[in-house]
Amino acid sequence: MHKKLESLWKKPPVIAVQLGSGLKSLADTATDAVHIPYEEIPGLPRPGVEGHGGEFIFGYVESLPVLFLSGRVHYYEGKEIDEVTAIVRLVHALGIPRLFLTNAAGAVNETFRPGDLMMITDHINFSGINPLRGPYHEKDGPRFPDQSEVYTKHLQEKLLQAAQETAVSLKKGVYIWFTGPSYETPAEVKAARVLGADAVGMSTVPEAMVANRLGMEVCGISMISNMAAGIIDSPLSHEEVLEAAKLSEQNFRQLFLSFIRSLKNARI
Ligand code: HPA
Repeated sequence: MHKKLESLWKKPPVIAVQLGSGLKSLADTATDAVHIPYEEIPGLPRPGVEGHGGEFIFGYVESLPVLFLSGRVHYYEGKEIDEVTAIVRLVHALGIPRLFLTNAAGAVNETFRPGDLMMITDHINFSGINPLRGPYHEKDGPRFPDQSEVYTKHLQEKLLQAAQETAVSLKKGVYIWFTGPSYETPAEVKAARVLGADAVGMSTVPEAMVANRLGMEVCGISMISNMAAGIIDSPLSHEEVLEAAKLSEQNFRQLFLSFIRSLKNARI
């Protein structure tokens, strides 16, 4: 099942990067890129939301091997939670030690603006679903996994250093997962703020939890695409998400390149 991917590299990629809505162009940072559609990997569910089935993009960023995951399965598509997280288990089985999750998210924190980048320091699983529920297999990690550092501290430090080096403004905050597909009501956004959330979205938490349990290092960045419902007086649309992504594209790219450079000295 993995042969097709494993044949692409001599040593496993140092990181897998899940590309969120509007962030696909981050994969353009890769040289010698090879594209493999998800459908060519047996057992991997195909995402349905963005009009194509998703693809792996393997290439070299700052001379380091990197695997991009372009397209993700969302719970709101009606998929089972294990289908949502299947790609994380695959990436782990390939021997890739860390996962960089990106997404588009609404600002709950009223000081944020569309186009801002927010490093995820922690999350709130508000979905009522625990992606780790199920029969226990020791190989998957602990039965009752600790959640006190889902987003690996030293990767957060590297992201902050990269932001400093590139003079890119990087906010920090807590991401809250609502399943979607509806956007939140203004009352839900208010509640999220009271709970301590800074950004709201419909992904990322399941992948982060599964990667963490498998012992992977995890980091994440939300691209703030809009003010969440009720903060400003206009309805939300998916077009907004893509427009904000354009605003942040150059910043994200610079930050990402600097972050990947910092992995050169890290444990592979
Ligand atoms: N809410 C939930 N998910 C989102 C949003 C939002 O406001 N913006 C982008 N993804």
